[in-house]
Amino acid sequence: MEYVEIFEVGPRDGLQNEKRQIPTEEKIALVDLLSGAGFKRIEIASFVSPKWVPQMADSADVLAGITRTPGISYAALTPNMRGFEGAVVAKADEIAIFGSASEGFSKANINCTIAESLERFQPVAEAAKAAGLPMRGYISCVTDCPYDGPTDPAQVAWVAKELLAMGCYEISLGDTIGQATPDSISTMLDAVLGEGEASKFAGHYHDTSGRACDNVEASLAKGIRVFDAAVGGLGGCPYAPGAQGNVATEAVYDRVTALGYTTGLDRDILEKAAVMARQMRAGD
Ligand code: HMG
Ligand code: MG
Repeated sequence: MEYVEIFEVGPRDGLQNEKRQIPTEEKIALVDLLSGAGFKRIEIASFVSPKWVPQMADSADVLAGITRTPGISYAALTPNMRGFEGAVVAKADEIAIFGSASEGFSKANINCTIAESLERFQPVAEAAKAAGLPMRGYISCVTDCPYDGPTDPAQVAWVAKELLAMGCYEISLGDTIGQATPDSISTMLDAVLGEGEASKFAGHYHDTSGRACDNVEASLAKGIRVFDAAVGGLGGCPYAPGAQGNVATEAVYDRVTALGYTTGLDRDILEKAAVMARQMRAGD
């Protein structure tokens, strides 16, 4: 059976938008449970301004508190050098820079134009390379932007080209507000795949419109084999109005398994983690 990797982003993307400040121990318990599920990569931290995203302010404590399972890469978002330095001190196993294919979201989310963001990422990329830290890249709003409307696929391809040139080992393509359709995803992928092989890209689909699994399926047809997801379907970005949860890890598991792929994940642990994540949202 062919392998599909699910990259668990629940502890970061799933929790970052929660209004209740979730106690650090609860975050650690979720990561520790997820560490037994069979993931190769789990995103658990974000070294961004605590004024912008208060929920992620304890990222260093989360990284310090988890029980690390050998073979799992515990990942962190790093928008600038300050974030990069925080991630290194906290011993993140890999980092991610995150940009946008639309100017409106770039401004709202990281307070700069796309071109300025690429300039800011350059020293991070150089430092990551020097430190031997793998660096992933995100592109938000790959089909639709909450501020600018539909995104030109050529714009996504351009940002992807720049991030690959900086040394990102993989680019995660974000349908940030969950408005993509299998058609718009396929059109976008056709453009992006002109810049690199399918193995260089991952799908990061939010499920606002309930189409994320269909978009995963459309992406599989284009050769994509890595998908970001969050247990329990938690998530959203504070700077993307209307953005709701990431596609649920268990939903992606069920869809790709039904299609004949293997994920190497333990479905029972995913279910337990989904219950835990939902309770964290509810504040139980
Ligand atoms: P800025 O205001 O333009 O930058 O923010 P600044 O350099 O002027 O800094 C402002 C303040 O933040 C200063 O503090 C800095 O020291 C501090 P003050 O002097 O006001 O007290 N600061 C930091 N603090 C901690 N760690 C840092 C850091 N950098 C500056 N690394 C900045 C620019 C990028 C910092 C800000 O806009 C920011 O933090 N944005 C993050 C937004 C965010 O995290 N969004 C969610 C993640 S992205 C996402 O969810 C999408 C994704 O899932 C894919 C998808 O779905 O599409 C990845
Ligand atoms: Mg996201």
